[in-house]
Amino acid sequence: APPSLKICCIGAGYVGGPTMAMIALKCPDVEVNVVDISKARIAAWNSDNLPIYEPGLSEVVEACRGRNLFFSTDVERLVADCDVVFVSVNTPTKTTGLGAGKAADLTYWESAARMIATVSKSDKIVVEKSTVPVKTAEAIEKVLSHNAKGIKFQILSNPEFLAEGTAIQDLAFPDRVLIGGRDTEGGQKAVNTLKSVYARWVPEDKIITTGLWSAELSKLAANAILAQRISSVNAISALCESTGADVSEVAFAIGKDTRIGPKFLQSSVGFGGSCFQKDILNLVYICECNGLSEVAHYWKQVVAINDYQKSRFAKRVISSMFNTVAGKKIAILGFAFKKDTGDTRETPAIDVCHGLLGDRAVLTIFDPQVPEEQIRRDLSMNKFEWDHPHQLHSHGGSVTSKIEYATDVYEACKGAHGICILTEWEMFRNLDYQRIYDNMQKPAFLFDGRNIVKVADMRKMGFIVYSIGKPLDPWVKDLQINI
Ligand code: NAD
Ligand code: UDX
Repeated sequence: APPSLKICCIGAGYVGGPTMAMIALKCPDVEVNVVDISKARIAAWNSDNLPIYEPGLSEVVEACRGRNLFFSTDVERLVADCDVVFVSVNTPTKTTGLGAGKAADLTYWESAARMIATVSKSDKIVVEKSTVPVKTAEAIEKVLSHNAKGIKFQILSNPEFLAEGTAIQDLAFPDRVLIGGRDTEGGQKAVNTLKSVYARWVPEDKIITTGLWSAELSKLAANAILAQRISSVNAISALCESTGADVSEVAFAIGKDTRIGPKFLQSSVGFGGSCFQKDILNLVYICECNGLSEVAHYWKQVVAINDYQKSRFAKRVISSMFNTVAGKKIAILGFAFKKDTGDTRETPAIDVCHGLLGDRAVLTIFDPQVPEEQIRRDLSMNKFEWDHPHQLHSHGGSVTSKIEYATDVYEACKGAHGICILTEWEMFRNLDYQRIYDNMQKPAFLFDGRNIVKVADMRKMGFIVYSIGKPLDPWVKDLQINI
């Protein structure tokens, strides 16, 4: 039988790939094409080595690839041929021009929209899957309708709430699916078409329909409020360290209040990932554009506390180790922005490593999922390199020459003066820390940016331990200067 619906998704990234794979899995009668301008990405989706690491993803892809799930670079033909186009291209922060450092860069989105308008020969539903500023649908509508020779486009906003590392679980059992559309007959018909796709596996009461602007804004607001919880608990972590309170105990006690709830209160070295900072800055920019400077200032603080948390951690490391890490080997355990992903976009590890390299540490980095080239690339985009080339030169070579890469966690720690745990990989909970301690320089320092080691056990072993938001080791306390 021919497919009941043809879907084409532009953008085969962290969102487009898993989202479309789940739709294909749950709707065998729907044909799902995922297209991208990146040949390498599409080739990887068609291989045994998928371009992203996500637990459970390869099983889903294998179950439908070649059946009703296809990955292709034949963008224009497949867009022209489908009923529903999802646009899931990247929407990064602008780096130059108006709104640089804050506003969303919609270049990719706009070019996708222009292409849709150019190649379409039949009516289509265009779904915003990317996270976009409020009112983007209006701009996209203009691009589409001004170029479309009588073809009707219905724009929907269907933001994605999956988190990396748990994408498959989040897609299979979402807390909610949000669909925003125009309050017109055509608009509502489009909403219902998309709703019927999700309704194959998502309970009706979890599919929320709203206006376009509410759907667009809900995505930015959800990320801002999630990130705000982390910055709130991280702000409290600093006060815990000053007063002797324990942030884990505080978070547990707070989370018992059913109005607050226990999730997303884990203090850390800072939040990372491609979304939180970008989306908050975008929200800030939109507020500023609407003359709401107090509101903009409020949300800006969520990012400011996160920057503070990352730099505070690096300073703790340096000041605890006699105020210098020059020439000292420091093992970095974990580089990904969270566990169960190989993604390093905006990972706090980049800032911490830069902080330590700036004090001339020698780093040995281990991460079970992040390849060496990726780490080198992330760290070579170093502010210092173009800011202070002479100083760097006098320190002997480029920043990346002070980085080693380990494929074994025990090798990474061998001979180290200190260890920094920056990602909460499960394996770091169960390491043979006695073995690690025995092979380190003494005094041996352990800096836990994710609260995963048992501090008392580690101290008994002989480590000098700093764990975010926990009562300070007397050693650490005595050596702190202005943190
Ligand atoms: P990504 O960079 O992994 O993927 C985007 C892909 O789009 C890239 O492969 C790129 O080559 C492709 N692309 C760009 N322009 C194109 C064009 N004109 N034609 C064809 N392909 C094109 O990004 P991502 O992480 O998947 O994020 C996509 C969007 O989803 C962003 O707006 C992001 O904010 C949002 N989002 C991301 C997450 C997440 O966890 N990563 C979660 C929810 C929402
Ligand atoms: C986030 C949102 O959760 C998701 O709904 C949205 O679609 C995309 O952005 P993601 O960035 O993939 O997802 O991961 P998330 O689990 O939210 O973690 C983001 C960062 O916050 C990570 O660096 C994580 O380690 C950190 N974090 C999370 C904490 O520091 N403490 C917590 O309690 C939770």
